[in-house]
Amino acid sequence: MPVYSKKVMDHFTNPRNVGEIENPDGVGEVGNPVCGDMMTFYIKVKDNRLEDVKFKTFGCGAAIAVSSMVSEMAKGKTLEEAMKITPRSVADELEGLPKQKFHCSNLGAQALNKAIENYLSKKKKGGKK
Ligand code: FES
Repeated sequence: MPVYSKKVMDHFTNPRNVGEIENPDGVGEVGNPVCGDMMTFYIKVKDNRLEDVKFKTFGCGAAIAVSSMVSEMAKGKTLEEAMKITPRSVADELEGLPKQKFHCSNLGAQALNKAIENYLSKKKKGGKK
């Protein structure tokens, strides 16, 4: 049994920002084919900042804690700052993840990045905003 930090347990039992954003500015979905876990991030952008971040995660406890932490870290950041959130920085904020659970933090950083990319590509196409 891997040992989880208090922070991981806290975010797992009481995840922040769970849910969906209506009419999101960007959506990013990633899955891990090995464990079958899935994560979707929804973002609202205002003046180049992440005004709101929500997620839905169907996955292991670490994946849920990671999503919750990523959403907290990303909220209020500029897009550039949020893109710099890495699996390592998420794991550090969670006071560490067991080695075999490190891929769960990859998912979180990737899903957020995808949501931002989705927003940027929509913007480029001259879609909304
Ligand atoms: Fe795959 Fe955690 S076991 S995301």
